[in-house]
Amino acid sequence: MRFASTAILEGVSATSLTMNRDSFGQRIVPKRGSIVAAPATDLSGGDPDYFFHWLRDSALIMDSLRVLHRRGALAEAPRIFNDFAAFSLRLNRLDGLSRLRQGDIRKAVKPDVLKYVRSDEDLMEATADAMPGEVRFNADGTLDIIRWSRPQNDGPALRALSLLRWRRGGSFEANAAELTSQDLAYIERRWEEPCYDLWEEQSGHHYYTRLVQTAALDEGAEWMTENGDAARAARLRSIAHVVGESLNDHWSPERGFYLSRAEPYGEDLNKDLDGAFILAILHADRRAGPHSVLDPKAQATLVKLEDLFAAEYPINASLRPGRGPAMGRYAGDRYVSGGAWYMITLAAAEFHYRLATCIAQGHVLERKEANASFIARILGEQPERELTSALVARGDGFMATVRDFTPASGELSEQFDQRTGRQTSAKKLAWSYAAFITAVDARRRATAPSHRPA
Ligand code: NOJ
Ligand code: NOJ
Repeated sequence: MRFASTAILEGVSATSLTMNRDSFGQRIVPKRGSIVAAPATDLSGGDPDYFFHWLRDSALIMDSLRVLHRRGALAEAPRIFNDFAAFSLRLNRLDGLSRLRQGDIRKAVKPDVLKYVRSDEDLMEATADAMPGEVRFNADGTLDIIRWSRPQNDGPALRALSLLRWRRGGSFEANAAELTSQDLAYIERRWEEPCYDLWEEQSGHHYYTRLVQTAALDEGAEWMTENGDAARAARLRSIAHVVGESLNDHWSPERGFYLSRAEPYGEDLNKDLDGAFILAILHADRRAGPHSVLDPKAQATLVKLEDLFAAEYPINASLRPGRGPAMGRYAGDRYVSGGAWYMITLAAAEFHYRLATCIAQGHVLERKEANASFIARILGEQPERELTSALVARGDGFMATVRDFTPASGELSEQFDQRTGRQTSAKKLAWSYAAFITAVDARRRATAPSHRPA
């Protein structure tokens, strides 16, 4: 934990790093308040370039810093939140047309990568209005001129959520409030439109995006009520209701899990069962009911995911006893090693811990046909009264797997190979540390004598 809490800060306001993106003629020096997804600047080994301020990653990292702060482990969190809000607000004021007017975006670009530069039309569509869907920015606060899967509308929802949760801790500066209001306004304008998923691969309507949007709108409505803006609170709540309803259509009774996409996508039927599901449940953090850890259908989906990866990844064939399977995105994933992801395996652990806390707080675990296999898996031969400790033990099984595949240094990459277990893809991925921090925190709460809510 101590290692992760330090390592996660490496990409936060990393003003002393420089990224020479030579083929694009860029020299990026991060500004205060920016957060790069991973801090590596030397990519000669072939790792992907994650030296960008992604909206999604940065929001999740901030949320884990909030958790550290609540634990008394990060005194400077208020300053970081202020810097982050100020930086993010400046991003919201950018626009593509101004960028084009500043000068030829292709001038310093090497001929062989010209094909990766965004078209002028694409940049022209990047109006101030569209900024929160821009997905990622350069850490020096400029627009990303590289072609990418845009828009992705989970980013502003996650950012609003992490700011709104921060407000519960007591401090909400003007910039944070303004940014939250803008992000909510973006969701209000765009919630009906298709966008790319969090894996940046397919445009459509996604369970992940819809669930975090619903949560942000509900939390935003509460905030508006506190502010005395009943009209906007009502508007946010009514959109949250519609988006929330659409989530129920993702349930497939035939297949017994929540589909990651609203409509099947041609040959990509494989992606219907997607580890993003677990992240969605955690990041939205619904207190109870549908799409929370207490939802029997959510528990059913988790079981399907476990079974999928247990069968799919060779490393899962020889796990030590008591271990949970290494988890990944979906069947047939081909990105880098197409392997296990730390953040998803950690999320499987955290799901169990959070459920344990709910039950310890007095929530009842419903017994439905959908979750019969989940309950059987957790309890085995044990009596019902052992449920919370059995859940913690199951969560620990996933943590142990993560530990088995983590080098002694404690460093976490994005993935670990499904055959060799070796780390692959981006090194020192901040999101992996964020997932570790929130999982450990959830475990502590699940095992604490007094079960304080988040
Ligand atoms: C980069 C994305 O972030 C990753 O999720 C995706 O799998 C690859 N591009 C391939 O499209
Ligand atoms: C690839 C993942 O697919 C995406 O979700 C993430 O935002 C970026 N990497 C940066 O970590």
